Amino acid sequence: MVNLLLGLQWGDEGKGKIVDVLTKNYDIIARFQGGPNAGHTLIFDGNKHVLHTIPSGIFHKKAINIVGNGVVIDPVIFKKEIDNLSGYNIDFNKKLLISRKAHVILPTHRLLDAASETAKGKAKIGSTLKGIGPTYMDKTGRNGFRIGDFELDNWKEKYQQLTQKHLNMLRCYNADIQFDLDELEKEFFEGVKTLKKLQFIDSEFYIQQALKEEQTILAEGAQGSLLDIDFGTYPFVTSSNTTAAGACTGLGVAPNKIGKGFGIFKAYVTRVGSGPFPTELFDDNGKRMAKVGHEFGATTGRPRRCGWLDLVALKYAVEINGITELAMMKADVLSGFKTLKVAVKYNYKGQEISHFPYNIEPENVTPIYKEVKGWQEDITNINEYDQLPETLKDYIKMIEDYVKVPVKIVSVGPDRKQTIFR
Ligand code: GDP
Ligand code: IMO
Ligand code: MG
Repeated sequence: MVNLLLGLQWGDEGKGKIVDVLTKNYDIIARFQGGPNAGHTLIFDGNKHVLHTIPSGIFHKKAINIVGNGVVIDPVIFKKEIDNLSGYNIDFNKKLLISRKAHVILPTHRLLDAASETAKGKAKIGSTLKGIGPTYMDKTGRNGFRIGDFELDNWKEKYQQLTQKHLNMLRCYNADIQFDLDELEKEFFEGVKTLKKLQFIDSEFYIQQALKEEQTILAEGAQGSLLDIDFGTYPFVTSSNTTAAGACTGLGVAPNKIGKGFGIFKAYVTRVGSGPFPTELFDDNGKRMAKVGHEFGATTGRPRRCGWLDLVALKYAVEINGITELAMMKADVLSGFKTLKVAVKYNYKGQEISHFPYNIEPENVTPIYKEVKGWQEDITNINEYDQLPETLKDYIKMIEDYVKVPVKIVSVGPDRKQTIFR
């Protein structure tokens, strides 16, 4: 059986932390989409780790970690991740397997990302500049370079052809992007060397075999449902399907093999990059969330925009993904707010609606809030659900009543141990 773990907002919900906590129950942890635009933070034994491409099960002795076909891999960032883990005695050759069908981010993909963003000016997506969009464009345009290509004798020729095409494309953008290709290629080829030391596999066969042997698999989502290429706030989205269906295409798993769906959400909402955000706060409440929650991007360091919990958007994500249980993260960050607001409906072009519409720009949508009591206690040392403040339990019950899915995990701090199961 394959269980899914997905972010239900605009990313950075705390997926990495929960994957790490749950890994002991699984034989395989697999990333199925996205790439180094992701930054998944794990904190344990006083150390903090941020993973971008490597699945968040890597610190556990037993689990095999797979980077699936739906992922895009930048060898440069990948090498840095491996180097950062050098003190941990991890047998990467055995424990980290890479799909031959995963696509490769070339240095020029990153340049094209930058050129596209610059050319858009004010309308920019606010991408992570990791080359994600251009790499997926080459994939769907059937021009991509795949991990399996590194096994060809003439892979450098193929690399150069694609790079040349990108250099030509770069000239078409109205953007002055400075770069030193020799420098970029040097670090790229170094990264490729590290990558080639690992096992490249036909991951769909590996996973099918594992399923026949009744192994348990957890598919680790990156980004969040509202950044999904189809269902997110287009065009301010990423270039992959971050929702449940992405796990089927990104690993080669049939829908009838999917079991549970863990949905990860923050007790409030954050967003990094551009795009509409109905419940965004520009006042002291928002500043307080950002400060207490240390809301800075794990990949780019950019400040994250903060706002009240949006139940209209959360329900949309729960339903599209078939979420069966929820994990509410960062409940500790809301400690001390006298009252909290949650969006329960939208005013959409003058009409009250309770679904997530086509346009959520501020001129079309104003959230309709319900105000509830906050909790005052420091909850960061609580480890049993029953000991949580009543007002927090009421907040959780309100969410469950709205989205019709139980909250099974409450996270009260960034450490692995600050996780309450119910
Ligand atoms: P991911 O991309 O979904 O894995 O999330 P990120 O790692 O980008 O962002 C989550 C941030 O919140 C990280 O800095 C985590 O260490 C932190 N975090 C996770 N859970 C909690 C929590 O319950 N409370 C607090 N205060 N921080 C948390
Ligand atoms: P994790 O897995 C938060 C956002 C970017 C930008 C948009 C498109 O850590 O939750 P891209 O580089 O993908 O073309 O950027 O998506 N974005 C994320 N925001 N968390 C992420 O990943 C993100 N990955 C991409 O900020 O708005
Ligand atoms: Mg993140």
